[in-house]
Amino acid sequence: MNRRLQSGLVAVTGLIAVLVLGPAFASGGGTLNDVANNDIRNIPSLQRGAGNFVNYCSGCHSAKYVRYNQLARDLQMSEDQVVNNLMFAAAKSTETMEIAMRPDDAERWFGLVPPDLSLIARSRGPDYLYNFLRSFYLDPSRFTGVNNLMLPGASMPHVLATLQGTQRAIFREAEVNGTVQHVFDRFEQVSPGTMTPAEYDEFVRDTVNFLDYIGEPVKQKRQSLGILVMAFLVVFLVLAYLLKREIWRDVR
Ligand code: HEC
Repeated sequence: MNRRLQSGLVAVTGLIAVLVLGPAFASGGGTLNDVANNDIRNIPSLQRGAGNFVNYCSGCHSAKYVRYNQLARDLQMSEDQVVNNLMFAAAKSTETMEIAMRPDDAERWFGLVPPDLSLIARSRGPDYLYNFLRSFYLDPSRFTGVNNLMLPGASMPHVLATLQGTQRAIFREAEVNGTVQHVFDRFEQVSPGTMTPAEYDEFVRDTVNFLDYIGEPVKQKRQSLGILVMAFLVVFLVLAYLLKREIWRDVR
């Protein structure tokens, strides 16, 4: 193999390794690294996720770029279904998912205003959200009674504790970069919730799926359009090749 090509290949392989492994290393050492495995084409999961969001999150978090009638269209629900199942806080289906809580009240209760969740999946990524909602653990030193492995010192209470139950985080001492540190080891269930761990993971996956979808409602369309464009290019390549052969046939 030619030298130039060889070193080029090495560089590209190195780059890919950094891109793929980099985030894994960066987030290692004390957090959960599970993968959400959500699928925004799974409509029943999105419908369940929308219900979860409305019932468990929208008391504190808005999703102000999401309109109820757009939800109805994308989640294949009738306007009636949306009105009866999702619209507790709005009067018209053309409204967006706002909340009634006033920002200054929120500030007083939590010390800060819970962020709007319209774009959270874009800034944090679905895997982070999946781990965030599964890693609240008991911590009496916090005013909420819980801490969070992904967001230490989080001021969000464990609003899903009735479903998940409560857990304690076990840390162990380990040497990280030459110094001894407390590193997360595992969770231990303290009291059970109404759901089994597997059911709770499913519940969180649906919720994250919904957040992923509202982060970019056109993602589905963009992805299927991308596939169409690639298919077109392949067909075009074949045509162009055949045409080239035809044109050059007599030129020898
Ligand atoms: C009782 C009010 C309340 C409810 C209900 C609530 N949250 Fe929160 N949430 C908060 C507060 C307060 C914060 C800000 C935490 C911080 O930055 O310390 C927050 C922050 C977050 C964040 C940002 C985390 C980050 O890394 O910055 C996410 C994501 C989130 N909440 C998701 C949810 C989801 C999903 C639900 C429903 C299952 C939910 N929340 C229900 C109060 C709430």
